[in-house]
Amino acid sequence: MNNPKNIENQIMVIFGASGDLAYRKLIPAIFDLFENKLLPKNFAVLGVSRSEISDKAFREKMKKGIKEFAHYKDSKDDVIDVFLSKLSYLSMDTGDGNEYGALKKRLSEIDAEHGTDKNYIFYLSTPPQLYSKISKFLYGQGLNLQRKGFRRIIIEKPFGHDLQSALDLNKELLDFFDDDQIYRIDHYLGKETVQNLMVTRFANGIYEPLWNRNYIQHVEVSAAESIGVEGRGGYYEEAGALRDMVQNHLMQLVALIAMEPPTKINAEAIKYEKMKVFQALHPLSESDLKQNVIRGQYSASKIRGEAVAGYRQEKNVDKKSRTETFFAMKFFIDNWRWAGVPFYIRTGKRLPTRVTEIVIHFKPSPQQLFCGNDNDNQLILRIQPDEGILLKTGMKMPGSGYDVKTVNMDFHYTDLDDHYIPEAYERLILDCMIGDSTLFMDGPASEETWKFVQPILSYWENNDNAPLYGYPSGTWGPEKTDSLIEGENQQWRYPCKNLSDDGIYCEL
Ligand code: BG6
Repeated sequence: MNNPKNIENQIMVIFGASGDLAYRKLIPAIFDLFENKLLPKNFAVLGVSRSEISDKAFREKMKKGIKEFAHYKDSKDDVIDVFLSKLSYLSMDTGDGNEYGALKKRLSEIDAEHGTDKNYIFYLSTPPQLYSKISKFLYGQGLNLQRKGFRRIIIEKPFGHDLQSALDLNKELLDFFDDDQIYRIDHYLGKETVQNLMVTRFANGIYEPLWNRNYIQHVEVSAAESIGVEGRGGYYEEAGALRDMVQNHLMQLVALIAMEPPTKINAEAIKYEKMKVFQALHPLSESDLKQNVIRGQYSASKIRGEAVAGYRQEKNVDKKSRTETFFAMKFFIDNWRWAGVPFYIRTGKRLPTRVTEIVIHFKPSPQQLFCGNDNDNQLILRIQPDEGILLKTGMKMPGSGYDVKTVNMDFHYTDLDDHYIPEAYERLILDCMIGDSTLFMDGPASEETWKFVQPILSYWENNDNAPLYGYPSGTWGPEKTDSLIEGENQQWRYPCKNLSDDGIYCEL
């Protein structure tokens, strides 16, 4: 974690404080920072949302969230209570500019009470339609001005719904805050193992010489989830897997795998290298859209004997919905390092297990000296849940002849003596408090990834009969996904088998 020695006293204002994110992630993460002694000496949280509840009721609710979701959930009550004394709550309609005078007043009071030196962070954990409005109303009260203390604003994904809305949103935000005040969260960047991608590549001399088109056959990025939409049907209907996971999280992983070494480890240098990758993404042609993009939707099935609802049976989901809960794609990056190397990405809900991993498939040895050697060298970077790194390499089986077997060289983070892995939000909130934007998204990069995926969105929108494949919950998505992978004997890595045999794969 960042060294917080220079961390300044401050208030964090959470808009949307009665929502799920504050309850499950933000407050538990801030509490973990408190337990890890990483918060500034003087610190306060102001929760803001429409629900009319008292400070006391807000604290009680947050206590429950801490006890369920914090790493230090078993902390003693009196310790949690010390933390909770830093929390207050303001009920207001955040969509009404007239109410921001009261917010400013309340902030001054808290500031005077806690000695937080007029440093404010505004965390927008609200529906995205409110991002511009809230920024504008804060601006209207001069709460963007950094004359007396710092002012930062954190925005949650989604940053826009498509290319045009992303361009509009970035433009509007910049009307009210300077670029270096805006922190766009992509929580994947806060994951310890995602940061480790850079360390694996650039702290070791052995990988980088092989990390290119001469030695790599293809790259696979998978983010599988076993859960369904879990009561978020309303949101998901508008989003779908492409907007929810690919445009942001998966494209960020691709950038970290594909980028050139940055000149330094700082926000500017890393953003510059990532941007070059996004700009080099080969634009998708009409034939790519037809052949190299696959979308699916989970259907009802039985997992381990238990009936599981299909997506169309979920709450707030249209019975005829064509929203994708699974997405897979093949694409290329047009530059010297990656020309001709296929990148495959896939993500989906209600797959057999939760796993996010990157698989680097190396080319076979140039001469097949050993008969029947089908050894496939792979480097697997496991982002979650069993964080670690695995190298698959060929080895001689003991005995006569030369039987080659693929064996694993495997490292698990749990093997480290001290393996406290901070939650992504813990790391990102702390970085924002310190003013370090290295692990945040920048506006132009987000626009560039929207530019890449926009043809897919437009194609689906304009072609009612673009295929949407059904897949039974508990399976690895539409069977057709296998056909994306080029090359003899090549297939996706399946960390475990399908859990459901019933249900039918079909075109919806
Ligand atoms: C969120 C998506 O951004 O990421 C969710 O909105 C998804 O739909 C989640 O479940 C996955 O995050 P993680 O950290 O569990 O891989």
